[in-house]
Amino acid sequence: MFSMKTCFFLLYLYLELSGRVSPAPTYEEQGQFNQTNRIIGGQPVLHRSQFPFQVSLRYNAWPMCGASIIDNRHLLTAAHCVTNDNGRLRDKTRYHAVVGDLRTNINSPTTVIRRILNIFVHENYNPSTIVSDVAVLRVESLIFNANINSIPLAANLPPPNTNCTISGWGLTDFEGDPSPILLFAHVLLLSHQTCLQSYASYLLGGMICAGFPGRDSCSGDSGGPLVCNGIQVGIVSWGVRCGDPEFPGVYASVPTYVDWIRTQQRRSSASYAVIYAYISPFNTGLLCKQAAFQIVETKTCINN
Ligand SMILES: *[C@@H]1O[C@H](CO)[C@@H](O)[C@H](O)[C@H]1NC(C)=O
Ligand SMILES: *[C@@H]1O[C@H](CO)[C@@H](O)[C@H](O)[C@H]1NC(C)=O
Repeated sequence: MFSMKTCFFLLYLYLELSGRVSPAPTYEEQGQFNQTNRIIGGQPVLHRSQFPFQVSLRYNAWPMCGASIIDNRHLLTAAHCVTNDNGRLRDKTRYHAVVGDLRTNINSPTTVIRRILNIFVHENYNPSTIVSDVAVLRVESLIFNANINSIPLAANLPPPNTNCTISGWGLTDFEGDPSPILLFAHVLLLSHQTCLQSYASYLLGGMICAGFPGRDSCSGDSGGPLVCNGIQVGIVSWGVRCGDPEFPGVYASVPTYVDWIRTQQRRSSASYAVIYAYISPFNTGLLCKQAAFQIVETKTCINN
């Protein structure tokens, strides 16, 4: 009996091991969505300013994952959103970050689209165990406003039962369609013990669980933020099915990786500072200095 159960368990885990990236387009073809069929147990975000840090990460223009804005040049997402099944980095030029709007199927006047300039995947990320499912993306400069802003990162894990929110455009049902509108749901942070009861040895260091019966993140929400009291505590990573009370969502723990994340932000900025220093003889004064960063990244007017 035990091995049967283990077998089923493995089977379910195998189904979800590709993580929570969005599958093939379906709703866009239909051009409509089911109002009652929301993010597992969630509700529509009415004002983008409630989730100004939420990013839709597009791959070949398809909304594949979520991410969060951590400063005006960097996004935080899941490693499995930017790598293939073997853990190899995907082509960064196929990605775009879309911020500032609520819908993925139409552009609005508040839609802002940015290219991904660089991708930093955690060295310990392993696609078969999904450990260290963390990546930092450098993007073209973002200008913050009411609908676009960064989220602070947690240095410590809040206590179990803390009321948190998840958000994204992912599947609204395990076998359903992605949502064209941004949805959110309240979930509770779970203790390590509770999480172990569901996932046993699949639960590795740096993984935390959050859930609530009937509420969960699902495919397409990967890389998006788990936010508690206005601070990002987790990154949507994986789970067994979605919204199953027996199997809460698993998140990469931000407190575990916050030092690594800060290091990538510095490393990324430093690499651009070096390029700036190289071209700086062509520029004088503060205004030119600011422009130099644009010049480096758009690679248009290097001889200015
Ligand atoms: C809408 O979604 C709900 C919940 O998943 C489902 O029960 C219902 O059949 C769906 N309606 C349509 C028209 O697809
Ligand atoms: C979490 O907080 C929200 C907003 O205050 C509240 O509506 C919701 O009922 C809370 N959820 C739980 C599971 O306690």
